Amino acid sequence: MSRTLKTDMPGPDRRVSVEDVRAKGLEAIFAPDLEPPLRLVVDLGFGRGEFVRQLAAEAPETAHLGVELSKKRVFKLARRLARTEGEGGNLRLIEATAEEVTREALPDASVDTFWINCPDPWPKRRHHPRRMIQPAFAALLARRLRPGGVLEVATDHAAYARWIDQVLRAEPSLANRWDEPFLHEVPGRIQTGYERDWRAMGRSLHFFRYARVPVDATDVRTAPAGDAVGTAPASR
Ligand SMILES: C[S@@+](CC[C@H](N)C(=O)[O-])C[C@H]1O[C@@H](n2cnc3c(N)ncnc32)[C@H](O)[C@@H]1O
Repeated sequence: MSRTLKTDMPGPDRRVSVEDVRAKGLEAIFAPDLEPPLRLVVDLGFGRGEFVRQLAAEAPETAHLGVELSKKRVFKLARRLARTEGEGGNLRLIEATAEEVTREALPDASVDTFWINCPDPWPKRRHHPRRMIQPAFAALLARRLRPGGVLEVATDHAAYARWIDQVLRAEPSLANRWDEPFLHEVPGRIQTGYERDWRAMGRSLHFFRYARVPVDATDVRTAPAGDAVGTAPASR
C-alpha cells in the first residue's frame, strides 16, 4: 500500500534555510525561544532525527541545529515537532548538505559540538571523494568549533573508521580526546536510529571524539562564514 506524504504543518515550523541563517544570524533564528549567548549543537545528517530530538529534549537551554540533505526526512521531522506540544523550541532544521551549512551559515568559533553519526561510508574506492569526512572539511569543522568545542563522529563501517582516524589525526587544530583512535562503546551515549539497526545485526560501532585545540594569538585562520573551503559533493 503506498503512503502519501502529508504536506500540512500542524504547528510551529522549525525549518530554516541556509540563507535565513546567513542573513539573520543564529541568534535571530532561535529567537524568541532562546536568549543569547547561544550554546550551539549541530547534528550533520540527522536521518530520522531521533538522536537530535533527544539531545534537544535533554538540553532545553541549548540551541540545536539539525542538518539533512533529504527533503523528505527534514519535512517528516518538522511535522513531528510541529505536532508535539512543547517540543522544538530549541531545535531548528535545515535541508541542505552538511558542507554547505558549515561553510555558508556558521561563523568561526560558533559551535559547541558537531555530531556526525553514521555518515554514508561510500565503500567503493572511486566514491571515496564523496565521503563527508575529508581533510578540508575536518579543518573547516575545527574552525567553526569554539576552542574546546567537540567533534563527535560515529561509524559502523571499519574501513571508513580507518579513513576517519587518518583524516582527524592529521588535522592540527583537533586533538583526540580518547587514548585510543576510537572506542567501540561510549557509556551513556544516545543511540541513533541507524546505530540501533546496525547493533541489531550484530555490527560494532566506532566512536571518535576530537576537541578544538585552543586558538592562540598567532592563529590567522579565522574567517567569516562563506569562505571557500570544505566544498564536497552532495551524496544524493
Ligand atoms: C546512514 S544515515 C545516518 C542517519 C543518522 N545520523 C543516524 O545515525 O541514524 C546518513 C544520513 O546522512 C544524510 N546525508 C548524507 N550525506 C549528507 C550530506 N552531505 N549532508 C547532509 N546530510 C547528508 C543522508 O540523507 C542520511 O539521512
